[in-house]
Amino acid sequence: MKIAMIHGQNHKGTTCRVGRMLAKKLIGEVKEFFLPKDFGEYCVGCTTCFMKNETKCPHYEKLKPLTDAITEADVIILTSPVYVFHATGSMKAWLDHYGYQWMVHRPNPAMFQKQAVCIATAAGAGMKSACKDMADSLFFWGIPKIYTCGFAVFATSYREVSEKKRREIDRKTTRIAAKIKSNAGKVKPGFKTKAFFHLMRIMNKKGGLNPADREYYKRMGWI
Ligand SMILES: Cc1cc2nc3c(=O)[nH]c(=O)nc-3n(C[C@H](O)[C@H](O)[C@H](O)COP(=O)(O)O)c2cc1C
Repeated sequence: MKIAMIHGQNHKGTTCRVGRMLAKKLIGEVKEFFLPKDFGEYCVGCTTCFMKNETKCPHYEKLKPLTDAITEADVIILTSPVYVFHATGSMKAWLDHYGYQWMVHRPNPAMFQKQAVCIATAAGAGMKSACKDMADSLFFWGIPKIYTCGFAVFATSYREVSEKKRREIDRKTTRIAAKIKSNAGKVKPGFKTKAFFHLMRIMNKKGGLNPADREYYKRMGWI
């Protein structure tokens, strides 16, 4: 099983540990990236990725190792500590670069078979909105199976995380790993993904948001 793990932070704190714990239980080949260390650019808003091609993005080359890793992976794990109730700015800045591969534009068919996990840890609250920040992109990329996993750890470093909480993290990551393993190789788009993709096909048939998207849908044989 190929795993791409993208951390929305540079440091190896609680959130990173939870991600690594899950990856270890999946027993696969892991490619790991830390943001902003491995990719720290902000979208410049040129919209060239949408209107022309993502290869023309000024950050295309820097982004490529991460793009290749998520494209080749069977499982994508995104982790982020909760910062002011959301995923980190680094995670958001990275995700912004993939607007072009949302289903409304030019989805990568490889995404339709993947599983993904969003992990967020907080001192007390905000895990749901932080996980949603990441899960929204994964859903709109077309990933059919997305697990979210938030922990209120009541700590600002792993050293302070209680034994009880560590056991809870262990239990939950074991449960998610078991689900991922049992679904491996069998993942297909479900109703929600299919319905949304269908709408996008109709929209692109009628002209789409721009000619590049419409051409892509045609080339893929989707319209
Ligand atoms: C800038 C910043 C903002 C934070 N915002 C929140 C927050 O909104 N809610 C919360 O419960 N914890 C918040 N925290 C605490 C962290 O989310 C929490 O300690 C987390 O487990 C840290 O994970 P890490 O060890 O991987 O960095 C914040 C921490 C920082 C540094």
